[in-house]
Amino acid sequence: MKVNSLDYWVKKNLTKIKESNLHRTLVEISSSMSPEVIINKKSCYQFASNNYLGLTTNPKVINSSISSASKYGVGTGGSRLVTGTSSLHRKLEEEIASFKKTEDSIVFSSGYLASIGTIPSIMSKKDIIFSDELNHACLIDGARLAGSKIVIYKHSDMVDLKKKLQKYKSNKEKKMILTDSVFSMDGDIAPLDKIVELCDEYDCISMIDEAHATGVLGDTGSGASEMFQVQDKIDICMGTLSKAVGSIGGYVAGSRDLIDFLKNKARSFIFDTSLPAPALSASLKAISIIRKDNILREKLYDNIKYFQSYLEGSSHNYLKSTTPIVPIIVGDERKALMYSKFLLENQIYIPAVRPPSVPVGESRIRLTFMSTHKKKHIDKLIKVMKKLEKFSN
Ligand SMILES: Cc1ncc(COP(=O)(O)O)c(C=O)c1O
Repeated sequence: MKVNSLDYWVKKNLTKIKESNLHRTLVEISSSMSPEVIINKKSCYQFASNNYLGLTTNPKVINSSISSASKYGVGTGGSRLVTGTSSLHRKLEEEIASFKKTEDSIVFSSGYLASIGTIPSIMSKKDIIFSDELNHACLIDGARLAGSKIVIYKHSDMVDLKKKLQKYKSNKEKKMILTDSVFSMDGDIAPLDKIVELCDEYDCISMIDEAHATGVLGDTGSGASEMFQVQDKIDICMGTLSKAVGSIGGYVAGSRDLIDFLKNKARSFIFDTSLPAPALSASLKAISIIRKDNILREKLYDNIKYFQSYLEGSSHNYLKSTTPIVPIIVGDERKALMYSKFLLENQIYIPAVRPPSVPVGESRIRLTFMSTHKKKHIDKLIKVMKKLEKFSN
């Protein structure tokens, strides 16, 4: 094999990845995304999905999607600015704006695309982005694409953020504070009340990622911005329809002018085929279910509390979280893989999360809960987690 060939280069780099226990493989699931899934022809209980409210398999959501496929077909055959805007796209955008209490919203094909399209449309090389050190990759990549100066502040540390804002106070160009509202790997919530105050004091644009908060936090499930009652103070609220909403797609909610501007500028909106009708109808139905009542959220939080009561008395090194994301920190990558393997041998599926998804030395198993988990699922999880306590001591 030639030393400068692609094959040689790929092999060498794959070996490096494998040697550092960072090699990833895809796990095939041959069932729906329910608490019980089939992996390698074996049934197991999973605590790893972001389908927090179980809406992915909700019969009303599925039926809405099926009838929409029959009426509109399964694709749009174009980007939003050509043939890709149906009345369902507009209906969903209006529904999201009403849910988020903003003037308007824009739907992208995913949350990742919403983020990497929006940030560079607004921020440029001359501008400064203040970014939480644990922000999701879609915010990091959006900020990098913008080419702005990126100032990273310590995780949710408002003293550090203020110090950094103060340092750049005299800068006359645009400034943005960028944060997840619920952090995807730690499950904690950003102090949005303090962040909007700092935005006000230092004349910054606020942009938040509500991916893990939408459907889960706030009185009507609108997100962390609703929980902190700062919906009218957030300039750019982005999120995804792929987690609690249970479907696929991303959005940005904000002022009418901002949304009009993004339709004209966001490259991941302009140069991307739009979402098909079954996905849009699923999201519309799911959001209407979320807004109608709290039952699913209440069930979800009962499940979280039930598991937390075990965790508090255990020897696991867990992060305190008040969201469906419950991380148990293992540290070493190899050990995290061993934990995950042990769990699967005991019919529990929770993959190991390793760098670059989390910082080096903070590999973990990241548990997530759903409103559709039953007591029998969590009891089994607790039983296996107790075995794991012994195994790891
Ligand atoms: C915090 C956060 N933001 C954004 C995204 C991206 O959303 P999507 O999966 O719709 O691209 C994810 C999901 O993977 C996420 O965890």
